[in-house]
Amino acid sequence: MELRSVIRSVAHYVPERRVSNEDLSKIMDTSDAWITERTGIKERRFVESSEVSTADLGERAARLALEKAGWSSEDLDLIVFATLSPDYYFPGVGVMMQQRLGCRPIPALDIRAQCSGLVYGLSCVDGYVKSRQAQKILLVCAEVQSPVLDLTTRGRDMAVLFGDGAGALTIEAARVGTSDPTQRGIIDSFLGSDGSGADVLCMKTPGTAVPGFISQDDIAQARVHPYMDGKVVFKNAVTRLIETATTLMTRNGVKPEQLDLVIPHQANLRINEMVRTQLGLPPERVFNNIQRYGNTTAATIPICMSEAVEQGILREGALVLTIAFGAGFTWGGNLIRW
Ligand code: UT7
Repeated sequence: MELRSVIRSVAHYVPERRVSNEDLSKIMDTSDAWITERTGIKERRFVESSEVSTADLGERAARLALEKAGWSSEDLDLIVFATLSPDYYFPGVGVMMQQRLGCRPIPALDIRAQCSGLVYGLSCVDGYVKSRQAQKILLVCAEVQSPVLDLTTRGRDMAVLFGDGAGALTIEAARVGTSDPTQRGIIDSFLGSDGSGADVLCMKTPGTAVPGFISQDDIAQARVHPYMDGKVVFKNAVTRLIETATTLMTRNGVKPEQLDLVIPHQANLRINEMVRTQLGLPPERVFNNIQRYGNTTAATIPICMSEAVEQGILREGALVLTIAFGAGFTWGGNLIRW
C-alpha cells in the first residue's frame, strides 16, 4: 500500500467585470487585432473595485471547493496558497484562509512560484501527503493583478495580458494498492527553476533590493509595475514546457496518445499551440481558456481544471498532464489520474 494525493474537488471564482480588448483600446494605444493575433486573448476579468483583494477571490473559490467535496473547513489539516499578488507584504494569504474559513489552527503556507503556482502547489501537497503530515488539504491559487498593471500606452505590453481570478482544490491522502495503474491521484511531479531569468519577468518595487524600499520617484517613473522581456520569456517557456511534458511522460512510461487531457498554463495561445504540435497532440486534448480570462498566473490551471470538469471534458479516471512556466524562471508539471 502507498499514499496517493487524490483531488476530491476543484472550483473557481472570477470577478464579474469583463474587460474586452476593445475596452483596453479606449484607454491605451492597442487593438483587438494586435492582442488576438499575438496572444489569443479576447477579454479578461478585473475586480470590480480596489476593495476586492486576492484573499476575497481565494475565499470564494475555496468555499466552493469545500462545498463540492462535502467537507467542512474543520476537516482541513493544511492550507497551501499560491499567489504573486498577496494582500499584504506579510503575512501571507494562507493564514487569512485559516481565519476566514474558520479552520482549526492548522499550518498555512504561501507559495511564490508565479505562473507555476499550481504545479509547485500540487507537488508540495503531495510531499505532505507522502510524509504523512497531512490528510485533507486545501490548495488555493488566486490573483488580483489589475491594480498593479500600468493601464496606459507605456505599459501596454504587459497590461493586455493579465487578469484576475481564483481556483481552489481539495486534496485527500488515500491508501492505494501499488500495482493498479488506474488508481486515482498525483502520479508524479517535475519542477525546475533558473534564477538567471529573474530580471526578464519581474516586479522589483517595492522591495528590499530597492533603495528606500519605494520612493516617490519610483512611482513617478512607473517602476512600480511588472516588467517583461516578452521574446526571451516566450522562447524559454516553449522549451521548458516541452521538457516538462517529455520528462513526465518518459519517466512514467506514458505516450502522448495515452494522455486524456493536457492543461497548460495560459500565457499565450501561440506558446500552447507550439507545445501541442511538438508533442503531437490533437487540439481537443489540450485545454485552453486564455481567450476569456487572459493570464491569471497561479489561478490559471485550477480555473482550467474547474471549467474542464464543468464542461464534462475532465472526468474521473482521466490521465491529465499539467504544465506551467513563469517568472523566476520557474516551471513544472504534474501527471495526475483524475
Ligand atoms: O506569464 C508568464 C509567462 N509569460 C509568457 O510566457 C509571455 C511570453 N511572451 C509573449 O507572449 C509575447 O512575447 C508577447 C505577447 C508578450 C509579445 O508578443 P511579441 O510578438 O513578442 O511582440 P513584441 O513584444 O516584440 O512587440 C512587437 C510590437 C512592438 O512594436 P515595434 O517595436 O515592432 O514597433 C511593440 O511596441 O508590438 C508593440 N506592442 C503592442 N502593440 C499594440 C507591444 N504591446 C502592444 C500592445 N498593443 N498591447
